Amino acid sequence: MGTRFTEESQRFRPSSKEDQVVQKAQEHFERTLISIQGQLAGSVAALESSYADSELNYGEIFVRDNVPVMIYLLVQGRFAIVKQFLKVCLDLQSTSVQTRGVFPTSFVEEEGNLVADYGQRSIGRITSVDPSLWWPILCWIYVKRSGDTDFGRSPEVQRGIQLLLDLVLHPSFEGTPVLFVPDCAFMIDRPMDVWGAPLEVEVLLYGALRSCVELMELCQRHDTSALLAERLRLSRKWTHDLRQFLLKHYWVTSKTMQVLRRRPTEQYGDNQHQNEFNVQPQVIPDWLQDWLQDRGGYLIGNIRTGRPDFRFYSLGNSLASMFGLLTAPQQRALFRLVHHNRDHLMAQMPMRICHPPMAGVEWENKTGSDPKNWPWSYHNGGHWPSLLWFFGSSILLHERLHPNADVLLMSEMTTLLDECYWSHLNQLPRQQWAEYFDGPTGTWVGQQSRTFQTWTIVGFLLTHHFLRVNPDDVLMLNLDAGLGR
Ligand code: GLC
Repeated sequence: MGTRFTEESQRFRPSSKEDQVVQKAQEHFERTLISIQGQLAGSVAALESSYADSELNYGEIFVRDNVPVMIYLLVQGRFAIVKQFLKVCLDLQSTSVQTRGVFPTSFVEEEGNLVADYGQRSIGRITSVDPSLWWPILCWIYVKRSGDTDFGRSPEVQRGIQLLLDLVLHPSFEGTPVLFVPDCAFMIDRPMDVWGAPLEVEVLLYGALRSCVELMELCQRHDTSALLAERLRLSRKWTHDLRQFLLKHYWVTSKTMQVLRRRPTEQYGDNQHQNEFNVQPQVIPDWLQDWLQDRGGYLIGNIRTGRPDFRFYSLGNSLASMFGLLTAPQQRALFRLVHHNRDHLMAQMPMRICHPPMAGVEWENKTGSDPKNWPWSYHNGGHWPSLLWFFGSSILLHERLHPNADVLLMSEMTTLLDECYWSHLNQLPRQQWAEYFDGPTGTWVGQQSRTFQTWTIVGFLLTHHFLRVNPDDVLMLNLDAGLGR
């Protein structure tokens, strides 16, 4: 016990090497940036890999991996690179019949030609949905931060938004405001039973719609057409309905669980709305009781007829807090939950992607016996340092927007964040900025982990920036705030 305590406290302890580590990380980061059409346009996914394979695509610019990259460049005022990234993505927005409006998962320039992957080159050949939803969010944050409203108003940007909205806001067989996707359609891009309406996609849809509204509003003064007015009306209504839907069906606390467990089942007809998805109480997992404690809350992973996914997904929950989908008291309930389950979610290497992992027959059936997603590995309960900054920013943003709310909880949360930061600082350089970590405590470098992974490096730099350099910069992530931040 004694040794364990010493080892752990060393991980969390402030280090005198802070400046050196930050400087080195900045140098690595500069090496990740590459050009498209002669101008810097974004970062490769990883600098090096222990698995040398020329078919691997870590040398490409992944849109999702470049989210922290773009935010970091924005805080540094390097607007030209962000603009080039956004423009190249727009140029690559698909025009083919079946995928019209979709943004690519990744792209790269090969011998002067732009090559993009919309899923046709990936393992499993799945089209990612999240890059298309991230694009308007990044574009709005860029316009807000740089003040480049001309770009936001430009026909290219407005056309890109229309194409995207056409893809999302249309009648379907489903009467709900969610976007339906196949398994593997976002950061979790291997089978993990995350098909239907997975939290991360729905929260990103919420952020994307809000950003599209802001970008379209830039044009309202010059464009008084009925078409724009109608698009704005529809987008606002959809955003509202989506939020209500997520808060009603995904948000759980100890209190809501007690209601859910005692609901009637097998209801049909117009007036029976207590259990719309006909969920039997038996599907509620045992671990939920301690996990939620008295005052914790979180958004579950997915709602599907009869089969909700109660797993906790760190990214979807952090984004729901950051985008203000959760109310302020709900955000604090989420922070309490993470604090209470810190040994699971942070452990030795913050932060676990999804909890709990699937094992045994469930793992066989739902992952297709995927050895990369072995229990406690990769997407199936693995630890991803790149996720910490999202959660950390949601704490810091909350603090800034609600400075007097539950001061005790918030000071516990900033201490937690500080310790996680030191834990990264003390371990990541030795572990070569690995992509992910394995095992229940996240101590071991992931079995197939790439090294010098960009979002690990830049995620650390962002946490450092928001904690140490300019805490006010976290306000740029607030989708609410108007221009000038
Ligand atoms: C893996 C991850 C994916 C990431 C990509 C590049 O495929 O699952 O989320 O974008 O690597 O780093």
